[in-house]
This record gives sequence, C-alpha cells and structure tokens, in this order.
Amino acid sequence: MEHGFWHKRWANTEIGFHQKETNDWLQKYWSLLGAKAAEVLVPLCGKSKDMLWLREQGHEVLGVELSDIACRDFFTEMGGEVAATAGPKFHTRELDGIKLHCGDFFKLDADDVARVGAVYDRAALIALPASMRKDYAAHLKSILPSGMRVMLICLEYDQQRESPPFCVSEIEVRKLYEPDFTVELIDAAELPDGRFEGEREKVYFLTRQ
Ligand SMILES: C[S@@+](CC[C@H](N)C(=O)[O-])C[C@H]1O[C@@H](n2cnc3c(N)ncnc32)[C@H](O)[C@@H]1O
Repeated sequence: MEHGFWHKRWANTEIGFHQKETNDWLQKYWSLLGAKAAEVLVPLCGKSKDMLWLREQGHEVLGVELSDIACRDFFTEMGGEVAATAGPKFHTRELDGIKLHCGDFFKLDADDVARVGAVYDRAALIALPASMRKDYAAHLKSILPSGMRVMLICLEYDQQRESPPFCVSEIEVRKLYEPDFTVELIDAAELPDGRFEGEREKVYFLTRQ
C-alpha cells in the first residue's frame, strides 16, 4: 500500500490489526522455531505487544515500522518516553533491548540485520498487496543469511478484497519463498469469529537456504 494509507490509519487510530494480548501462535510455537538467543527482526511491527513477549524470552528485538505514531506509542505504552535519534535511513528509538527503526522496511539492508537470529512476521506479509508481497519476500531473501529461521502467520479467507488484510494462501507462500527458503506448514485453524467468510490462519516456519 502507499505509505499515506498507513499514516492515515495510524493518525485516525484505525488499527483493528493491533492485538491487545500476545499472539497465541507465537507463544505456542516460538520455542520450536529454535531461534538463537539473538536479536529478532519484526518487520512492519506496528506497536505489537509480541515484541515485549519476545524480549521476555531473552531476545533483543529489532522492529521496523513506517508510522512514527506507532513507534512512539509502543514505548509510551511500555511506560517510557523515548526520544528518536535521526539516522540516514530511519528515526530510531531504543529502550531495554527493543529497538524500533521508524521508516521504510525496504531500506533495511544486510548490515542492519547482522545481529538478527530469527524473524517474526505476523500481519506484515498479509498487509501488502500482491506486487508488494513479491518485493517483500525478495527483499527478505536479499538481506537474510543462510540458515535464518522465520515464523510466518498468514490469513486466508474465501472472499475477494482489495484492502488489507489480504488473503495469502499456502500456494502463494510457497511461490513467494521457495526454493530460497524451505517452507513448513506448522499449524492451521479456522477463525469462527473472524470478519470474513472461511477465515483461517496458517503458521509456517521458513528456513533460508
Ligand atoms: C497490519 S499492520 C501489522 C502490525 C504488526 N505486525 C501487528 O501484528 O500488529 C501493518 C503495519 O505495517 C506498517 N507498514 C506498512 N508498510 C510499511 C513499510 N514499507 N515499512 C515499514 N512499515 C510498514 C504499517 O504502518 C502497519 O503498522
């Protein structure tokens, strides 16, 4: 989506994607991913509470998020006002092992993720329209070294929609990531109280070859 779309959503607090609690899939499967006790990259992180949970598991966290409102509110809600430091690509805030780069995910390069040991994608890939999903997967491929593990949570449903969250099927996940990553389906569940017909979530582990 255009950057303006997301800035408007945050300015108007239209953030239905934001979860008040830690994601259930994350809590259930993160330990199985076998992530090293290193930094976890959270692309398109919003102000997700999942980052706090990852920090509690001993990881440092590197989030990347377009919206300054989201980055500011994340730390305010954590209980701290954190001033942003301006860099050439991002405005960065950091507190207690959580660093949020405010700016465009596509500006992230291999040096920025040199300390990253795993990636957590919830509502990042599915936030992007089809052409951007290709760019997103290609960009991850270009910056992540061999052996990197990714936990990916995708949404599927039976309708056609032209705004996020987008339906991203298992076929598409495999098309986007294989053969540069191996793709393992870990779990799937219908969401009976979902907003769309046939709404279901799937959890994948990806490994960069
Ligand atoms: C659907 S939300 C998901 C947020 C978070 N992952 C969560 O689970 O709450 C997608 C987020 O991606 C951010 N975003 C969209 N395009 C981006 C980009 N190119 N670079 C960085 N962040 C982006 C939006 O501002 C929005 O906060």
